[in-house]
Amino acid sequence: MQSDNIPIYKKKDFEKMRKAGNLAAHVLDQLYELIKPGTTTLEINDFCHDLILKNNAIPAPLNYKGFPKSVCTSVNHVVCHGIPNEKKSLNVGDIINVDVTVILDGWYGDSSRMFVAGKPNKKHLDLLKTTYECLQIGIKEAQPGKTFGDIGYKIQEYAENKNYSVVRDFCGHGIGQQFHTPPSVLHFGNLGEGPILKPGMFFTIEPMINLGDWKVKILNDGWTAVTKDKSYSAQFEHTIGITEEGNEVFTLSENNTDFPINDL
Ligand code: MF3
Ligand code: CO
Ligand code: CO
Repeated sequence: MQSDNIPIYKKKDFEKMRKAGNLAAHVLDQLYELIKPGTTTLEINDFCHDLILKNNAIPAPLNYKGFPKSVCTSVNHVVCHGIPNEKKSLNVGDIINVDVTVILDGWYGDSSRMFVAGKPNKKHLDLLKTTYECLQIGIKEAQPGKTFGDIGYKIQEYAENKNYSVVRDFCGHGIGQQFHTPPSVLHFGNLGEGPILKPGMFFTIEPMINLGDWKVKILNDGWTAVTKDKSYSAQFEHTIGITEEGNEVFTLSENNTDFPINDL
């Protein structure tokens, strides 16, 4: 098993992650007013970019493996890694994931949420709710002594019981002083499989849930992942640390707006 490569961090590292995580959450907390019909994904990118710099941090995606922008913006059937641009302006009812990763004092905070331009229809709202619940279920399962397979199993079970599908091609990841470290945190799997969770592990949980089939493809830009069947896709992400008692979520909203309640 891959458990050997999973870094274990010290008590004092939790404070670093808390600060980086808080900043990622703070940036997301500011987006509810900005995101409405007519907003372009580039405007969202530039707002996040400026706010991150103002807080003495660096937007981790910028130039990461050649990614050209500072956040990922993934609209409707885009699963993840959408590239912000000035042409893509939001229409009424569009659902969008904004994925913010900051590097603060050398430590990474990674979080994403769904937002809606105006009001979503009932079908899409239920997709958002279910995806948010999948993340919460994963976090609840993230306890010392459990396995990574337990987390994936519980998320998959919940999503598939509601007839949604779980994306297989992308997963959560270890995080700390690097963006992506072991382990791969799958959002599907079997109880009891995979490495055992231990205090001091830092990782993300970031389920991508589709209305239709789980299969995805990458567009010619080399980044944008879309559902093959064009069905809508949603994602929420938190960065967490395992403690003796359970876990700490580093990327919680300052004002409890983790879920996109712009008047839903
Ligand atoms: N933030 C994404 C994640 O959750 C990674 C984005 S990589 C990028 O892991 F290059 F696309 F920005
Ligand atoms: Co991540
Ligand atoms: Co992310």
